[in-house]
Order: sequence, then structure tokens, then C-alpha cells
Amino acid sequence: MRSTIALKLMMAVSGIIFIGFVLLHMYGNLKAFSGHDAYNDYAHHLRTFGEPMLPYGGLLWVIRVVLVLSLVVHVYAAVTLWRRAKRARTVKYVVKKNKHSTYASHLMRWGGVTLLLFIVWHLLNFTIGKVNVDGGPTNDPYNLLVDSFSVWWLTLIYLVAMAMLGAHLHHGIWSSMQTLGLTNSVRERALAKRIGLVLALIITIGFSLVPVFVLAGVIDK
Ligand code: HEM
Repeated sequence: MRSTIALKLMMAVSGIIFIGFVLLHMYGNLKAFSGHDAYNDYAHHLRTFGEPMLPYGGLLWVIRVVLVLSLVVHVYAAVTLWRRAKRARTVKYVVKKNKHSTYASHLMRWGGVTLLLFIVWHLLNFTIGKVNVDGGPTNDPYNLLVDSFSVWWLTLIYLVAMAMLGAHLHHGIWSSMQTLGLTNSVRERALAKRIGLVLALIITIGFSLVPVFVLAGVIDK
């Protein structure tokens, strides 16, 4: 049986890998502001990067494998910790629960489940299935992006998901810094909270810009 601290470390390390990916992905998305060719060139470069040392799409496959492994670790640790917390509580609480931490753990668990559903839809939408909800073609990455977010309800789903992601990261970053022993003084705790808030805001706002500006007609075909 793994120790609780080992599970929390697994969550922290896999979570930090996700944050690295999400920041890079957000940077890539923002290329949409530079127009059709800049965006599609970037998508193409992602696939030719490292050639001829790597095969076409090689880097992308390395990233995919790392992400899938991190996801397995993150979900395994989360479910094990969730079960353990439940089992520890066979008798109903008589004492007053800490409302704040109960709220945070609910937000993390159900927020995590929602994000997982979002990612499944997201991959079907843009990578595995390539679904154009506007009915247009799917062979041009930039045009697929513009068509997708011209549909108000899809933009709404993304904005809600990005808000959930922000809330998850806000707490998760703080939590991981605690696990890594970086919150030992009042000053360190305040800094960890600020880092969590700032990174969560950058990621949520950075991801939301493209869908909003497409819907507003600023990013156009
Ligand atoms: C507004 C927000 C987002 C937009 C507009 C967006 C857009 C895209 C697009 C267009 C692709 C296909 C890229 C390509 O094939 O070249 C993609 C792939 C992907 N996105 Fe996002 N994304 C967003 C948010 C996210 C978030 C929050 C996550 C994870 C938490 C995420 C995870 C992924 C993954 C794992 C892939 C697959 C990469 C691959 O294996 O090819 N995305 N996204």
C-alpha cells in the first residue's frame, strides 16, 4: 500500500507536467491572433520539429506518451486518495468539519472529473475525430478553429471549462507546493497562494482569448 505522501507527490509531479503542457499549448493557440498562415505553420512545425532525427510527428508522440502516463498517474493517485479519505470516515462526523477544506476537496474531485470529460470532447473535436460543429471542412487547422468558435454554445462550453481549469489549478498549484515542502512560513504560504492565483488567471484568460475573439469576429477566416 502506497503512503499518502507518495500519492500526493505523484499528483504534484504529474500536475506540474500538465501545467508545462498547458502553457505551451496556450502559447500555440495564441498564434491564431497572427492569422491563418502563422497558425497553420506552427501546427506544421510541431510535426516536423526534430526531423530527420525524429520521424514526422515524433515530438508530438513523445508529448502524447508523457501526457497519457501523467494522466494515468494523476487519476490513479486522486482516486486512491479519495477512497482512502472516504474509508477513514466510516462513522459520520460529530465534530464540525472544516468547511473550507471540504469545499476545496469537492471542487478538486468533481472539477477533475469535469475536466476529464472536457478533454475527451476536446480531443474528439480537434484531434482524434475532427468534428466541425459548423458543418464545414476539417482539413485546415485554422479554419476548423474559427468555424468551431463561431458557434456560440461551443465557445460557452470552452469558457466554462477554462473557468473550471482555473479553479482546479488555483488550488492544485497551492496544494502541490505544500506537498513539495514550499509552504513552511507565513511568507512562503502567501507566495504559494499568489503563484497559484497568477498562473491560474494567466492560463484561464490566455485560453479564453481565442474563442472569445473568434466569436466576436476579430479572428476571422
Ligand atoms: C480555449 C482552449 C483550447 C483551444 C482553443 C484548444 C485547441 C486545440 C487544437 C486546435 C488542438 C489540435 C492541435 C493540432 O492538432 O495541431 C488541440 C489539441 C489538444 N489539446 Fe487543446 N485547446 C484548448 C484547451 C486545452 C486544454 C485546457 C487542454 C488540457 C487541459 C488541452 C489539451 C489538448 C490535448 C491533449 C491535445 C492533443 C494534442 C495531440 O495529441 O495532438 N487543450 N487543442
